[in-house]
Amino acid sequence: MILIGSRSLLLASFVVFAWATVSNIYHIPSALSNAPNHAQFTSNNTGLDAPKVHPINASAFDWWYFDVVSTDPASFASAVVVFYTASSTAIPGQAPSNMTLPVQIWLTFPNGTQIFAQTQADAATVTAEGDFSSGDWHGSGFSWQYAQDSGTGSFNILIDAPDSQIKGTINFQPRAPAHYPCGPAQGGQNMEVGPQIGWANALPDAVSTVDLIVSGTKLSFSGAGYHDKNWSDQPLISNLASWYWGHGRIGPYSIVWFDFLALNGTEYVSAYASKGHSILVASCEPGSIRVRPTGQNSMYPPHISTGDPSGYHITLGLGTEGSLELNVSVEVQIAAIPPIYTRSKGRVTGVLTTVGREVEEMAGVALFEQFALTE
Ligand SMILES: *[C@@H]1O[C@H](CO)[C@@H](O)[C@H](O)[C@H]1NC(C)=O
Ligand SMILES: *[C@@H]1O[C@H](CO)[C@@H](O)[C@H](O)[C@H]1NC(C)=O
Ligand SMILES: *[C@@H]1O[C@H](CO)[C@@H](O)[C@H](O)[C@H]1NC(C)=O
Ligand SMILES: *[C@@H]1O[C@H](CO)[C@@H](O)[C@H](O)[C@H]1NC(C)=O
Ligand SMILES: *[C@@H]1O[C@H](CO)[C@@H](O)[C@H](O)[C@H]1NC(C)=O
Ligand SMILES: *[C@@H]1O[C@H](CO)[C@@H](O)[C@H](O)[C@H]1NC(C)=O
Ligand SMILES: *[C@@H]1O[C@H](CO)[C@@H](O)[C@H](O)[C@H]1NC(C)=O
Repeated sequence: MILIGSRSLLLASFVVFAWATVSNIYHIPSALSNAPNHAQFTSNNTGLDAPKVHPINASAFDWWYFDVVSTDPASFASAVVVFYTASSTAIPGQAPSNMTLPVQIWLTFPNGTQIFAQTQADAATVTAEGDFSSGDWHGSGFSWQYAQDSGTGSFNILIDAPDSQIKGTINFQPRAPAHYPCGPAQGGQNMEVGPQIGWANALPDAVSTVDLIVSGTKLSFSGAGYHDKNWSDQPLISNLASWYWGHGRIGPYSIVWFDFLALNGTEYVSAYASKGHSILVASCEPGSIRVRPTGQNSMYPPHISTGDPSGYHITLGLGTEGSLELNVSVEVQIAAIPPIYTRSKGRVTGVLTTVGREVEEMAGVALFEQFALTE
């Protein structure tokens, strides 16, 4: 990765109102580096969505993840797009490759029919602007663009990939503020969700529309969108035993959960909830959230041979608003690396207990995953 564009030069072209948005441009080659890498785990004042590891050697991964899950209860539709700067040996389930810039897309039609496609880029460019970014994976037909148009800005994923026969756009209008594992998007934050695993959540929830043509068939739906990035200077299996991650929209709340078990048995968590563009909780305090499998194969901690659970139970404190008890149930699996990984779309039902002990029932949608990497 080469950081180009001096600030003085860029100030001239990125003046917004009375102040300047610092915009850094990173050019990332597709060839694997043999040099030692360096990863950043403490946040800067801006640059939440910027690259965090360089160079990408055989131990490194740093990727940008986007998804949309339909909010229509009768639809199975979802879309997931991942832009990687990663060694195939640093993340599980990748075919061996000397290329570091794959783009992967998983699409599920309303009736449950699924499509997966992967393509490689020749080079990538990431432009970090404030806490958001744009990215172009050259030659892949996939890019994303952040536009600082209205108050909260917006993201578009642009796809024109004839090899995969996918064309169109996915739009994200933010509806929840960005955060790090332990707090809001500010400088000096710890960015480790677990040992040596960085995580930054630029878009915990968004009003999203998917508008694609896939092999001549229209895939178009609206739903709850999401974008984050994660990274490490070491292979994932060097630090992770298992994790549960997911995001959902329930009642007036946007929620994101992370419950992470390190190899030595220490549990790390990250709890997030927002309402009306305000953060209610963004915490990695032990006990701020608890996620446990339910139904079949609900042994905790999960092992490689445990099998996939039917759902999860989540307890999430909302500070002065009370606390949520949620049941997440798997409706349809949308990606898997058997037997170590599953990603699913599901329903969330829950009860909010307010501080005054009133109880309110609510329901919504979620997209979530689990890793189990040890036996
Ligand atoms: C990657 O490997 C292929 C053969 O498998 C080779 O043709 C190509 O030059 C290699 N690319 C790089 C960047 O080393
Ligand atoms: C990548 O760089 C790190 C230094 O952060 C080093 O520990 C590691 O051995 C390197 N990996 C490879 C495969 O060269
Ligand atoms: C972020 O902060 C670190 C020091 O904490 C500094 O080395 C680095 O250059 C900063 N990155 C950017 C993009 O400003
Ligand atoms: C599901 O929808 C897709 C896309 O519209 C269509 O191609 C496929 O035939 C449908 N499958 C079934 C079983 O109806
Ligand atoms: C990165 O995060 C995304 C979404 O949170 C998740 O799907 C993926 O498994 C994570 N990957 C790694 C290697 O951390
Ligand atoms: C696991 O490692 C962490 C970080 O080094 C340490 O704080 C914790 O005490 C360890 N836990 C156990 C059970 O050894
Ligand atoms: C969650 O599931 C458990 C066990 O099936 C059930 O007892 C509880 O009432 C459910 N809670 C909600 C909020 O749906």
